[in-house]
Amino acid sequence: METMVNNIAIEKAKTSKIHEVDFDNLSFGSVYTDHMLVCDYKNGEWEAPKIVPYQPITLDPSAKIFHYGQSIFEGMKAYKDEDGKVFLFRPLENFKRLNKSAERLAIPQLPESFFMDGLHALIQLESDWIPTNAGSSLYIRPFIFASGTGFHASPANEYKFIIACAPSGSYFSGKVKVLIEETYSRAANGGVGYAKAGGNYAGQFYPTKLAADKGYQQVIWTDDNAHEYIEEAGAMNVFVRINDTLMTAPTNDRILDGITRKSILDIAKDEGIKTEVRKISVHELVEAAKNGSLKEMFGAGTAAVVSPISGFGYHGEDYELPELKDSYASMLKKRITDIQYNRAEDKFGWRYPVE
Ligand code: PLP
Ligand code: COI
Repeated sequence: METMVNNIAIEKAKTSKIHEVDFDNLSFGSVYTDHMLVCDYKNGEWEAPKIVPYQPITLDPSAKIFHYGQSIFEGMKAYKDEDGKVFLFRPLENFKRLNKSAERLAIPQLPESFFMDGLHALIQLESDWIPTNAGSSLYIRPFIFASGTGFHASPANEYKFIIACAPSGSYFSGKVKVLIEETYSRAANGGVGYAKAGGNYAGQFYPTKLAADKGYQQVIWTDDNAHEYIEEAGAMNVFVRINDTLMTAPTNDRILDGITRKSILDIAKDEGIKTEVRKISVHELVEAAKNGSLKEMFGAGTAAVVSPISGFGYHGEDYELPELKDSYASMLKKRITDIQYNRAEDKFGWRYPVE
C-alpha cells in the first residue's frame, strides 16, 4: 500500500530486517536499511521521487553506467541525540555538490526539493535504524547513474537517483598510516577530481592496494604535475599541524571540496587556532617531521570524521608522528561531533533537524 508524506509516495516493506542487525558490532556501510528513495530521469525530466523497499535494480547490459562510468555519489550521515531527536549535518552542501558533480559528468541537474524532501522522508521513515552507540551513525549514500542504454559514447538519456542508507560504525578500525604517492595521480588539472565521480575512486584502488601491500592504509595524493605538493587522501581531506599552525591544501579542480574540511577550518578559527589554506610541499612536510615541528596530521571527511594519521611513508622512509595528549585532532573531532550529535550549541547553524 502506498502513502504520501510531504509529496513523496511511500511503499513500505512488508517485513523489517532491523532485528537481524547487530548494532553493537557495526562495520562501515555493509548492512542496509529497509527502504530506499528512487527517482528516475526519463523523457527529459526527473519524475517524482518515491520510497520503496530496499531491493536490487535491473539494468540493461548496454546501460551507459557500465561502459562510460557516468556515475556520481554523495556521502552524509544522520545522527540521533540522547532524546531520540534526529539530525543531518549541512545537507544542502551535499545537494549542491551533487549537482556540481552532475554538471561535470553531463548528468541532468536534480531539483533541490526532490533531494531534500526525499531525504527528509527517507530518514524519518528509517529513524529506528540510526545507531546510538558512540561513533556510530546512519551513513547515507545518495547517488546518480546512467541507466539509459547505448554503446554510443555520449551521455545517456535516462538516469536513476537513489538514496540508500547503512547503519555504520567507524570507517577506519585502527591507526592510519599513509603513503605519499610519487608515481600515480588521482586527478589532473581540468579533470573530474573535484567531482564525486565513481571513477575517481576506481582509479585509486590499484595504487592504494600497492600501498596497502607495504602496510599503509591510505595514499596521500600529490599534484599530478611533479608530485611535489600534498592534496588529499582517498576518502578525506588532509590537515597538517606544524608547530601550532593548522594547514590544509586549497581546493582546486583536482580536490574534493570537503564539507568536513570547511567545517573544521571554521571550528579551528573559532578556537583561535592559526589556520593556513595553502600549498604544502612534501619537502616541507619531511623537513618538519625531521626537525620535530610536525606535530600532527589528520584526515577529515564524512565517513572518516577526523582520523589521526600516525605516520607517513615517503621515498622509502617512514616518518612517525608523536602521540599528543592535547591534539588538535581530538579537540576538533569532539567539537564537530558534539554539534552533529546535538551535544553542544550549534553556533554555525549546521544542524538540520529531521522532524
Ligand atoms: N576527499 C575525498 C576524495 C572524499 O571521498 C571525501 C569524502 O566524502 C572527502 C574528501 C571529504 O568530504 P566530506 O567532508 O564532504 O565528506
Ligand atoms: C564519505 O566520507 O562520505 C565518502 O564518500 C567516503 C567514501 C569513499 C567512503
